[in-house]
Amino acid sequence: MKYLALSTIALFFVLLSCKSKKAPTSTAAATPEPPATTAAPAVSAVQMSIANKRWPNTQAIELADGETIFKTKCTKCHIAYEIGGFSEKKWLHEIDDMSPKARLTPDEKLRLTKHILSYRDMVKPTSQN
Ligand code: HEC
Repeated sequence: MKYLALSTIALFFVLLSCKSKKAPTSTAAATPEPPATTAAPAVSAVQMSIANKRWPNTQAIELADGETIFKTKCTKCHIAYEIGGFSEKKWLHEIDDMSPKARLTPDEKLRLTKHILSYRDMVKPTSQN
């Protein structure tokens, strides 16, 4: 009986110490996240005009998002490959292959595709596909 009383008291203090340790964490979690300060990558006017010929009404934010996706989600397993280094056909194939690996949503995949293909046309304007 004495043992039970002692362990109850011990348990009480264990729980108390857990609670006091957890308190700062929950306060921190309640603090709102600071706004994202990383600016979207700048999209050149040349790339915008190339993209808009192909996909009318393309917004700069779509291409900027595509670039961010390329540089973050597509670099988890390997480097960001040189966009000018592959043909359009190869890119389309790789984007199909890699999007599930990178767990892209259909919208992210579209933005990535618009960025890669318009960027490629910009850096390789005369090359054949
Ligand atoms: C989960 C890991 C992983 C992620 C995430 C990933 N890749 Fe890959 N990638 C690979 C592997 C492994 C290979 C080589 C084997 C293959 O082709 O499947 C590869 C190959 C490639 C190649 C071919 C390179 C060559 O020399 O032929 C390209 C291009 C590529 N990835 C682009 C991308 C893009 C774009 C994304 C983002 C949508 C991406 N990868 C995300 C694992 C990944």
